[in-house]
Amino acid sequence: MSPGPTEIEDNVLEAMATKGTNPDLDPAFYERYKGVVSKYNQLIGTQNATSLLLAGEAILGLEAACSSTIEPGDKVLCISNGFFGAGFKGFIEMYGGIAVLVESSWHRGVTVEDIRATVEANPDIKLATMVHCETPTGITNQVAAICQYLHEKNILSIVDSVSAIGGEKVSFDSDKIDILLGGSQKCLSAPSGMTLVTLSDRAIAKMKQRKSPIVGYYTNLANWLGWYDRKWFPYTQSLQNIYGLEQAIDNLLKKDAVAEHSEYAVKVRKVMEVNGLKLYGQTELSNTVTAVMIPNNLDYDLFFTYLLEEHKILIGGCLGDLKGKVFRIGHMGANNKQDNFVILFKALDHAWNHFNLGTSCFESSFKEL
Ligand SMILES: Cc1ncc(COP(=O)(O)O)c(C=O)c1O
Repeated sequence: MSPGPTEIEDNVLEAMATKGTNPDLDPAFYERYKGVVSKYNQLIGTQNATSLLLAGEAILGLEAACSSTIEPGDKVLCISNGFFGAGFKGFIEMYGGIAVLVESSWHRGVTVEDIRATVEANPDIKLATMVHCETPTGITNQVAAICQYLHEKNILSIVDSVSAIGGEKVSFDSDKIDILLGGSQKCLSAPSGMTLVTLSDRAIAKMKQRKSPIVGYYTNLANWLGWYDRKWFPYTQSLQNIYGLEQAIDNLLKKDAVAEHSEYAVKVRKVMEVNGLKLYGQTELSNTVTAVMIPNNLDYDLFFTYLLEEHKILIGGCLGDLKGKVFRIGHMGANNKQDNFVILFKALDHAWNHFNLGTSCFESSFKEL
C-alpha cells in the first residue's frame, strides 16, 4: 500500500508474458506502439499531441524534458511546494538554464497568485517546471489554472504528473500543458521501467528552434520525432513492458478511474482523522496518496518493520526533513481494492495495540464508510 510501485493486475502480468517480436523490424510493432500511444492520449485528454513511451524510470522523463527544451541562458520558473518541485532546479541548472525558484507552503497546492508576481517581474522567463501531485506530501497542484496562465504568458510548461495520471483529472489539450510526464508504476499500475512523455506542438517547436544542440542521446526527445513515418526508434523498445502498459491503460479506461481514486482518498483521510491522526496537507489533498503525521510516541522504523514482518504490508515513509515524521498510504491504481484496505486497517489496529498507542478503530471505521 505504498505510493508506487503499485500492485500489478494479473491481466497486465499475463500481457507481459506473451511472445514478442523484433520491435525494430516488425512493421506490426510500429502499429501496436501507435495504438498504445493513442489509448494513452485518451487517458490524458489530448487529440493530437505527441506521446512517447520511453524505456526508463520516470526520472528519465524529467531529465529528458529539461535536456531537450532548456538552452544555456534560458530563464526557467521552478515552481516548488515540495521535494519534486524543488528537485527540478537541479535539472534546469544541469542543462544551463537559470532557475527562478518560486516556493510556497508544502501543506497546500500552488495557486496562480503564488507565481504571478515572479512571472510579472521576469518577462523573459521561457519555461516553467511544476509537479502535479507531490507524492511525498500528498498535495495535488492546480495544473489546469497554472498551465493556462503560463500559456497566456507564452511560457512553456513542463509538468511532472508521475503520481497523478490515472488518478487525477488531466486534460492535456484544454489545460494547455506543453510537456506532461508520467510513470508506469504509479496509478497506471503497469510494471516499473517506463516513462511517458507528451509534447505539445509548442514544445516540439522549442526543440526544433534551438540554437545549441541537445546534450545527450538517451534524453534527446528530438531523436524521436517522426518515428512512425520513418519506422525507426532511437533504441530497441522494451516489448513486454509496452504490452503490460497497454493492458494497464485498458484497465483504467474501462472505468471512471479518477472517481475511484477520489473515493478511496476520501475514505483513507476520514479513517485517519477518526483515529486522531493529523494529515500533513491542509488543502488540495491528493486523490492518490495520503501523507499522515506520525504520532510522537511512535518510531517510524519500528512501525514499518512491524507492518512488513507481521502483516506483510508495505507502507511509504518520507524523505529529507520529513523522514520519520510522516508515513504515506498509496491509494493508487490497483492498490485500490476494498480487501487491501481492510487488511491494511486491520494491521494498523494491531500496530496501535502492539505499540501501546491507545484504542483505535481503523478497520471498523473504514467498513462503516
Ligand atoms: C512526483 C514524482 N516524480 C518523479 C518520480 C520519479 O519516479 P521514478 O522513481 O520512477 O524515476 C516520482 C517517484 O516517486 C514521483 O513521485
